[in-house]
Amino acid sequence: YAATFRRPPELIPYSTGRDPDGQPFAKYSLSQKLGQAQIARGLSTTIAGYNGTFPGPTIRVPQGMRTEVRISNRLPAKGLLYTDTFNTVTHLHGSASLPQYDGYANDRTAPGKVKNYHYPNWQAARTLWYHDHNHMLTAQGVYSGLAAFYPLSDLHEQAQLPQGEFDVPIVVSDVMLNADGSLGYNDNDHAGLWGDIIMVNGVPWPTMKVKPRIYRFRFLVGSITRSYRFALSTGDPFYVVGTDAGMTPKVQAVSSWRQGTAERYEVLIDFRRYKPGQAVELRNLSNKNNVNFANTGKVMKFQVVADSPSPAGSRSLSSIPSTLDVGEPPSKATGGLDTMKLTPDMAVAKRILRVRREHGEWTINGETWADVEKSNFTRLFGNPQRNQVEQWTIVNESGGWFHPVHIHLVDGKIIARNTNGGKPFAWENGPKDVFYAGENESITVLMQFDTGKQEGGRYMVHCHNLVHEDHDMMVQFSVGDLRI
Ligand code: C2O
Ligand code: CU
Repeated sequence: YAATFRRPPELIPYSTGRDPDGQPFAKYSLSQKLGQAQIARGLSTTIAGYNGTFPGPTIRVPQGMRTEVRISNRLPAKGLLYTDTFNTVTHLHGSASLPQYDGYANDRTAPGKVKNYHYPNWQAARTLWYHDHNHMLTAQGVYSGLAAFYPLSDLHEQAQLPQGEFDVPIVVSDVMLNADGSLGYNDNDHAGLWGDIIMVNGVPWPTMKVKPRIYRFRFLVGSITRSYRFALSTGDPFYVVGTDAGMTPKVQAVSSWRQGTAERYEVLIDFRRYKPGQAVELRNLSNKNNVNFANTGKVMKFQVVADSPSPAGSRSLSSIPSTLDVGEPPSKATGGLDTMKLTPDMAVAKRILRVRREHGEWTINGETWADVEKSNFTRLFGNPQRNQVEQWTIVNESGGWFHPVHIHLVDGKIIARNTNGGKPFAWENGPKDVFYAGENESITVLMQFDTGKQEGGRYMVHCHNLVHEDHDMMVQFSVGDLRI
């Protein structure tokens, strides 16, 4: 725990104003470029990041503020790990973006080119993140460093959860390095990448100074494959206040939780129970089907220090809340429903997604993205109408593997798991967009295909183990008419 904890940099808009309809907007600019990271002592690691850093700059946006993010690909012609052209695609994970801005895997931006992405930001507060999504090359893009936070806030979230100094985004990822410090890469026959170095915000096993206060951590797993089971060395609880797609209506105390790649869990840690000078470790107890090394059971250390005044805009809490008021669905006027109030009788269609490996490829119901490409991008896995509610069951039939399955566009409510007595796990009683299907697990999810005021179109569904996604566990659905 020798390294110092670091918060990712924050990005300032280069222009703000109001659209003709009165909605505020902010415009941002980012370049994808090479940068240098110090991961192993005395060695420098070449990475590819947004503005050359990993994590890239955090974009914090209040609900109702439209954003335009101009992304220039200033990467070299060839990738850092594979020799393919370093094309990029940017996906804002957790956003109900229009299809043309959703990071469609074949919508590539070549080195030297620019794309402007437009985001609506009408949804309820949540921890989003943006990352590369280039078909067959997503693992390379994200592993090279193309990932960053995009927290969306709203008045409910601001009134009830810690802010500023006490609101801490942390992305946990694993990496392996070559002897010269360059990024190592081995995806084990497209099955999984297992690094032996655990990083928090790009720093290996850091120490963070914390005051004896209640902090909110936005956990994101940014690993290619690895999943984690986080626990404190003291055995003290975490209080889950948010899942992928927003705040949980009930605050749940857990002594540990399981988190796969792309999932987000927001938890409170109450450091008031410790004395200044005391240290608490954040550990990874590991989950089934992960490959561990000497130090992959450690994540970071919290060093408690004396309390002191906080910068303006910071707010902690005086007690741990037991419930949270998430407010009305922001899209109520267009028929949007509260995700956590969906019930099975509302579902007009039921689908099963069987995930397995066939002929060396990872598949969903026997299909891959190659089938979508062959169909000229018209092949659909589903075709819900706007605001339709569906029930999907993800069934893991792949033996000794786990799959965090991500469904674009929608927020889902887990209503059943075949394990855990048929119920969702204690930590997943909130809106989700990634569904962790462990070995032999099946998960049933309700979701509304809510596009707000916008039209629908095509969206991807895939495993977020990025080597599975790349080879080739991805299909698509269309909300309403397929628009290409
Ligand atoms: Cu986080 Cu389809 O991606
Ligand atoms: Cu998978």
